[in-house]
Amino acid sequence: MSGPEQLAAYLHDAGHLSDDWLETFRKVRREDFIPHRIWVRTEAGYQALTRGADHARWLRLVYSDTALVTQVEDDDGSNIALVPTSSSSMPRVVAGMLRGLRAEEGHRVLEAGTGTGFNAALLAHRLADHNVTTIEADPELADAARVSLTRAGRAPTVVTGDGAEGWAEGAPYDRVIVTYALHHVPYRLVQQTAPGGQLLLPWGTGLYNGVLARLTAGPAGDGTASGPVLGDCAFMWDRGQAPPQRDVMAAVSHRDDAVAGRTALDPRLVLGDDDAAFAAGVAVPGCRYTVGHGAAGEWTLWLADAGSGSWASLDFLPGAGSFDVQQHGPRMLWDEVAAAYTWWREAGSPPRTRFGLTVGPDGQHVWLDTPDNPVPGRE
Ligand SMILES: C[S@@+](CC[C@H](N)C(=O)[O-])C[C@H]1O[C@@H](n2cnc3c(N)ncnc32)[C@H](O)[C@@H]1O
Repeated sequence: MSGPEQLAAYLHDAGHLSDDWLETFRKVRREDFIPHRIWVRTEAGYQALTRGADHARWLRLVYSDTALVTQVEDDDGSNIALVPTSSSSMPRVVAGMLRGLRAEEGHRVLEAGTGTGFNAALLAHRLADHNVTTIEADPELADAARVSLTRAGRAPTVVTGDGAEGWAEGAPYDRVIVTYALHHVPYRLVQQTAPGGQLLLPWGTGLYNGVLARLTAGPAGDGTASGPVLGDCAFMWDRGQAPPQRDVMAAVSHRDDAVAGRTALDPRLVLGDDDAAFAAGVAVPGCRYTVGHGAAGEWTLWLADAGSGSWASLDFLPGAGSFDVQQHGPRMLWDEVAAAYTWWREAGSPPRTRFGLTVGPDGQHVWLDTPDNPVPGRE
């Protein structure tokens, strides 16, 4: 694929792009928003590719159905980086989210996570510049998006700031779309959504990133928004909410104090099953994990809650019927994960699409099937 027409046709034919967004995808050129240097995933990490060095490859990637990393945290000049901090999402994901947003002509939309500005340009093309506001936390990215948008002839409002604050000056919005993964839905975004308006947001936990949820704001004065998980959707985390995964090991300390025990629960039943991992993540808030591989198929699962300084480890041995566990409080994280797994099994092993979320002034509540059936635990 070499241009927007081909990319749009591909996405449409493959069922990712709805009719109402087709013309917009044909007209908005992704190449206008992708920086000259992008980062391509390789076995060694993300490798820099500049437009000047290989224009044909750069353009092919821009018009392929691929997420493009456009900023990394650890750019040390070596041309290899490990931690992406901004990207232009996979076009099929962009198209799917825009369809899920159910935006219509005349709607006012707030996007949190401007990134390259490509999604804001799509929104502005279809809904008109004055109906679109987009917020980016990183000032350099916000400036670059402003330049790209202007060059492409679009002029939505680009705000440099934390998406958690929303943008009260432009409220109320008929639609709010977040393009990074949230642990907690900021209440300001609910407050800035018009009664009956909708919020579409990637939502994840430390054990599962993530799902896409669509919340509908209640009637005037209600002050809450509620709605179901629609399906899967993995995004980079909110810059303000997510300590990087490497912090899991930073939270491990005081090994002498740890409480030793054994568990008969195979950790693969929890973390190897997307629905179980999702449910456990909901019920064990603040818990993150990482895995350290040893020899001969042995590995250690590490759980940590940096907030309380709690951690747990489980040593997996192939073929074993039970496993050594170490836990350091105040939270007994493996016990919490095991209890969450038991709850999920007893509830009939519900898929993650049976869960939903209500966000109000008193916080965020997760439910199963209906808002009056809360999940024990709390994320
Ligand atoms: C996957 S990219 C978004 C892609 C973008 N919509 C586009 O069309 O290119 C996620 C972006 O969200 C931004 N971000 C992360 N946390 C944020 C926050 N709390 N407020 C605003 N922007 C945030 C990141 O800096 C990054 O640029």
